[in-house]
Amino acid sequence: MKRIIIQYGGTGDLALKKLYPAYEQLIGKGFEFDILALGRRFEDRAAFVDTIIDKSAAPEFLEHLDYLPYDMADPKATKNLTEKLKSMVVGKESVELIYYLALQPSLYEEAIHQIQEVDSSMDCICTLTKKIVVEKPFGFDLESAVRYNRILETAFEDKEIFRIDHYLGKEFMQNLLIMRFHNDIIRSIWDKDSIESIQIIFDETHGVDQRLGFYEKIGVVRDTIQNHIMQIVTYLTMNEPASLSSEDIAVEKVKVLKAISSVEEFSMGRYESLGANSGHVVDVPTYAALKLYVNTYLFANIPIYVRTGKMQAEAKSLIYVKFKNTTKDVMHDQSIAENAVIINIHPELTIDISVNLKQPNTSWKSKPVRFRFNQAETFGANTPEAYEQILQKILQGDKSLFPTMREITESWRIVTPMLEHDDHTEVYPVRTLPRFANQLADNNNFTWYI
Ligand code: BG6
Repeated sequence: MKRIIIQYGGTGDLALKKLYPAYEQLIGKGFEFDILALGRRFEDRAAFVDTIIDKSAAPEFLEHLDYLPYDMADPKATKNLTEKLKSMVVGKESVELIYYLALQPSLYEEAIHQIQEVDSSMDCICTLTKKIVVEKPFGFDLESAVRYNRILETAFEDKEIFRIDHYLGKEFMQNLLIMRFHNDIIRSIWDKDSIESIQIIFDETHGVDQRLGFYEKIGVVRDTIQNHIMQIVTYLTMNEPASLSSEDIAVEKVKVLKAISSVEEFSMGRYESLGANSGHVVDVPTYAALKLYVNTYLFANIPIYVRTGKMQAEAKSLIYVKFKNTTKDVMHDQSIAENAVIINIHPELTIDISVNLKQPNTSWKSKPVRFRFNQAETFGANTPEAYEQILQKILQGDKSLFPTMREITESWRIVTPMLEHDDHTEVYPVRTLPRFANQLADNNNFTWYI
């Protein structure tokens, strides 16, 4: 079968940093497909490859990488694309077209209309199948997400639509489910009777950099909270699914999302511009901190504290699950530390379980020590990147690592008040934690794990 991935946003940051390296890996592993990059920046393939494709890219990847200058505003755009695709499939009996939209959400509607046009004029003498892949954020808000979906569903069947949240391709996410549901000792303590609170920390050192044009229309809520953070919350708090099939997992995830009541404590900030990005000033929130609850029987009243954003001193992502400490009172020793599970996501994947053991040369004094799992040490450093896992699933037509539309709409519902939040947006100096993040901790009497 001849397979072509039609890469909208083919000269964009996501394509260059994440998608092309992942395509290269997959081609190296023997997957067969061509990539047709669409973009406005270059007149032809030679300029595209010479200017922006990594010089050390594998020859077999370059052989499968093509380029078409494509301006969505040009009335001839779809005709040019159709002709190009027809030329690529001449003589093929079976063809699959995978349209991959890595665009501003505001362009999706037009892009989908154009795809419908291309699709209806392909008339190749072959068996033609198609898929569409839509990057996050899916939509700009609840209303637009529902509208885009309606348009999508007029042109594609559900099994042909892949809505991306690349966090579902991350090893730590899949491991969360295995850790919770393949271990009785973890499963039996993973609820409100044992857990006191959860922190999700997502600090990045980079700013919005080359993505300014994209990010300025998006901001932190649409960029990470509506998708990555909500997905992490579902994996942390969902009930046992009947099986680890995508359908059964999706049922439980939707229950969690429906049980998240409106977020009461929420603040945002944007970093102080250094005059980078040719004098642009980031004018959207780039950092947020919040508290939420998942009101299910399993997790009611357990606060989940989240902080996420850009231009921090250290790149660190982790989940800190703090357990209740009843032994302090029972043993009449206030120095006994709480147990915890710490899932370090970045810079490396480790899972620590912190327990108290005897401190030598003391009389019944304990000290917190950790049992550590280190992904790279145990399994080697060759775990596939998230995008590689995601793209492989798309090629295979397997929808297990993709959020469903119900999850996406519920997530938009949850973040709607955050998008409408018009309180003061703090300006924070780069490399510092915004004041409101510490304020959230003070108000709730907890300390951020880092
Ligand atoms: C993307 C966001 O979805 O995820 C970026 O748009 C963010 O702003 C990125 O930096 C983080 O992903 P990863 O895989 O680097 O943790």
